[in-house]
Amino acid sequence: MHFSVVSSLLLSTILSSVHVIAAPAQQEKRDAWNKALGWPEPEYNYYKAVGDTVEKAARANQLVNQPACNMQLAQMPQAPTPLPPPSAGLVLSHIAVGRGTQNYTCPKDADASVAPTAVGAVASLFNVSCIAGNYPQLLSLLPSVAVRYPVPTANSQLAPANVMLSGHHYFQDATTPFFNMITSDSNYGMVAAAKLNATNAPDAAKDVTWLKLNAKAGNWSFVEVYRVNTSGGQPPKTCEGQPENIEVQYAAEYWLWAPPK
Ligand SMILES: *[C@@H]1O[C@H](CO)[C@@H](O)[C@H](O)[C@H]1NC(C)=O
Ligand SMILES: *[C@@H]1O[C@H](CO)[C@@H](O)[C@H](O)[C@H]1NC(C)=O
Ligand SMILES: *[C@@H]1O[C@H](CO)[C@@H](O)[C@H](O)[C@H]1NC(C)=O
Ligand SMILES: *[C@@H]1O[C@H](CO)[C@@H](O)[C@H](O)[C@H]1NC(C)=O
Ligand SMILES: *[C@@H]1O[C@H](CO)[C@@H](O)[C@H](O)[C@H]1NC(C)=O
Repeated sequence: MHFSVVSSLLLSTILSSVHVIAAPAQQEKRDAWNKALGWPEPEYNYYKAVGDTVEKAARANQLVNQPACNMQLAQMPQAPTPLPPPSAGLVLSHIAVGRGTQNYTCPKDADASVAPTAVGAVASLFNVSCIAGNYPQLLSLLPSVAVRYPVPTANSQLAPANVMLSGHHYFQDATTPFFNMITSDSNYGMVAAAKLNATNAPDAAKDVTWLKLNAKAGNWSFVEVYRVNTSGGQPPKTCEGQPENIEVQYAAEYWLWAPPK
């Protein structure tokens, strides 16, 4: 099998593992891949956590009855210097793992005195709302694993890769991150946002800042959006020797808050 097909399959499996977590056959398949591919540490840790979860469920005899999705149990991760909390009265509405690129530009033939300018991001958003509540230890490992694989696409021969797709993240203009959570399968709404607060990721040199975004004026489905547990996305330190357009692979958790329904 071609490498990109293998890796798309892996990412889709990772992102949908909560669906198959109770299926021993799938677990065996993953163990086999693990052995065949010689997992690097993030994957090893992730699958070890999956294995532990399955084992625990088996011991508790819950193999056929997965716990109900309880998103309200989910705890949003906190940065070393925490972002302000969500505004009073909002409830957690959706949690997605975003996988895509942070984009930057550099002037032509720039020297080391010039730093790249952020010009937005593009990412596919995968619904991890239930993983967040039921398997928080798996969610916390996802961005660092997801960033290592290409985004699954609908036209790959693995259409089920999009089974958990819940939307798309992009920029309407340089300062307006947009979350379009409408796909052919589901409609979780939309929001045009603006950056309110930023704080360094624990590994700030590698991982883009954690953010609190606010909805812009309008009747949007979400009021506040957090970008946390980022993995990757930081640009080169300077523009020296860089092309004019730079794309840096990243993944992150997006926590979307809304008024109670
Ligand atoms: C997708 O997200 C919604 C919340 O927006 C949640 O109710 C639903 O159960 C999620 N599905 C999965 C499979 O995580
Ligand atoms: C960022 O890069 C992606 C991938 O090439 C591209 O599709 C997108 O248009 C770029 N977005 C911006 C804001 O530069
Ligand atoms: C967050 O941003 C708002 C708006 O700029 C500001 O008033 C507030 O002080 C910031 N809070 C923190 C903790 O940085
Ligand atoms: C806001 O949008 C919701 C959902 O689409 C709709 O039910 C509601 O009437 C809208 N409110 C206003 C003030 O436009
Ligand atoms: C991600 O969040 C979890 C808590 O949900 C935390 O334990 C973990 O260390 C975080 N990882 C990173 C890289 O921020």
